[in-house]
Amino acid sequence: MHPFHFGSSKEDVLQAIPERKIKKLVAGKKLLAVLRIGELIHVFDAQCPHRGADLTQANINRAGEIICPLHHYRFDMTTGDVRSGYCPPLAVYRSELKDNGLHIYLP
Ligand code: FES
Repeated sequence: MHPFHFGSSKEDVLQAIPERKIKKLVAGKKLLAVLRIGELIHVFDAQCPHRGADLTQANINRAGEIICPLHHYRFDMTTGDVRSGYCPPLAVYRSELKDNGLHIYLP
């Protein structure tokens, strides 16, 4: 598996992804949403698994949940599990912040 690569250094990535703001990232044909909390990075599908709303417009809460802007379903930002609502889980992707940038492992 070839990781998708973003940024050229750790500092680059930290600067390009403002903390607690969700950034949209195009990785090939995939639209991803990237959320940074400190140096912890969460990568997930930019489309809500319920009806496809844009999750880069989502809110996040202190419980580590992503709240969809459309029907307010809530997803665990680490596992993608549905915490509130009825739909499949949100696809989340493993990533690593390295000295040469962010590596995102897509299936
Ligand atoms: S589209 Fe996200 S909760 Fe309905």
